[in-house]
Amino acid sequence: MLSKTMQDALNDHLNHEIFSGYLYLSMAASFDRINLPGLAGWMKVQAQEEFAHASKIYDYVHERGGRVIFDTIAKPQAEWDSPLTTFSHAYEHEQEVSERINTLVDLAEDERDRASKIFLEWFVSEQVEEEASVDSVVQQLKLIEDSPHGLFMIDRELGQRVLVSPA
Ligand code: FEO
Repeated sequence: MLSKTMQDALNDHLNHEIFSGYLYLSMAASFDRINLPGLAGWMKVQAQEEFAHASKIYDYVHERGGRVIFDTIAKPQAEWDSPLTTFSHAYEHEQEVSERINTLVDLAEDERDRASKIFLEWFVSEQVEEEASVDSVVQQLKLIEDSPHGLFMIDRELGQRVLVSPA
């Protein structure tokens, strides 16, 4: 059985994962508005990953006899100056998510909740990949600077991303 403290913290993070998906859908819409379907597609896949993360927490809370409680999802930003600022924001967001996961692991240790600690280790590893994949796009966008041709090429490449269901 989950402690109330752990349950509340997991529910809070479930909400934040849904917010992440919401934010990335907002980023996708900003790319679709300026006719960059590849970047939009990449963000839509990212949003699906976030919803899958939320679903993983949902299942875990129930498995441990806890209660999933949904809360208000914050309104995401809707406008960015450029693809680079959009992906830089996504990178900062992922770093913040990593910090949140680390705090959850600390809490699981404080609570001597080994099952939650093991459950959260998957997220620790996932965050390494999440940060690296967003940062690699940031670096590509920095390399092309303002080249429309470069942006066209990146858009084509990122549009090939497909959803890989979390293990
Ligand atoms: Fe679910 Fe991108 O962290």
